[in-house]
Amino acid sequence: MIDRFVRVNQAGETAAVTIYKGQMAVLGRDPQLRKLLTHMRDQEVVHLEIMDKHVRDFCVRPTLLLPLAAAGGYMLGMVTAMLGVESAMTCTEAVETRIGNHYNDQLRDLHQLKYPELDELKRTIAKCRDEELEHLETALEHGAKLAPLHELQFEFVKGGCSLAIWVCERI
Ligand SMILES: [Fe+2]
Ligand SMILES: [Fe+2]
Repeated sequence: MIDRFVRVNQAGETAAVTIYKGQMAVLGRDPQLRKLLTHMRDQEVVHLEIMDKHVRDFCVRPTLLLPLAAAGGYMLGMVTAMLGVESAMTCTEAVETRIGNHYNDQLRDLHQLKYPELDELKRTIAKCRDEELEHLETALEHGAKLAPLHELQFEFVKGGCSLAIWVCERI
């Protein structure tokens, strides 16, 4: 179970960093958006450092799909940003909703296990979860719901995340 958790989290945070990089490549000229995206990207970089450390600490084999997670994240960030700021924010809304739930699912399972070796894992996942939910708030404040075909974009990205989670836990 720990293997699965640590593997998928590293892939997820890898994609998170590149999603924001892809969005910045398109929207980064606007100084305000640049500041916003840089802040979230920097937090994702810290999340990835945390997940990389978990991979080392628990001797987990990273997913074979790590390069695909990075490339897929960048593409997703770039394409949604090309559809407009609101669509970029819908992408963030969908990703962070799914990942917030994903981390909560993991925390629920981890809280069943009372080993002190898992304390840092629980604490750091909770920290990341809190910041993902901040990103979700930020996306909502910046017009995520105003994107054209919002529901469709939202469900598409969220479904894609679920599929990616399922695959990266296993491969
Ligand atoms: Fe993250
Ligand atoms: Fe995030």
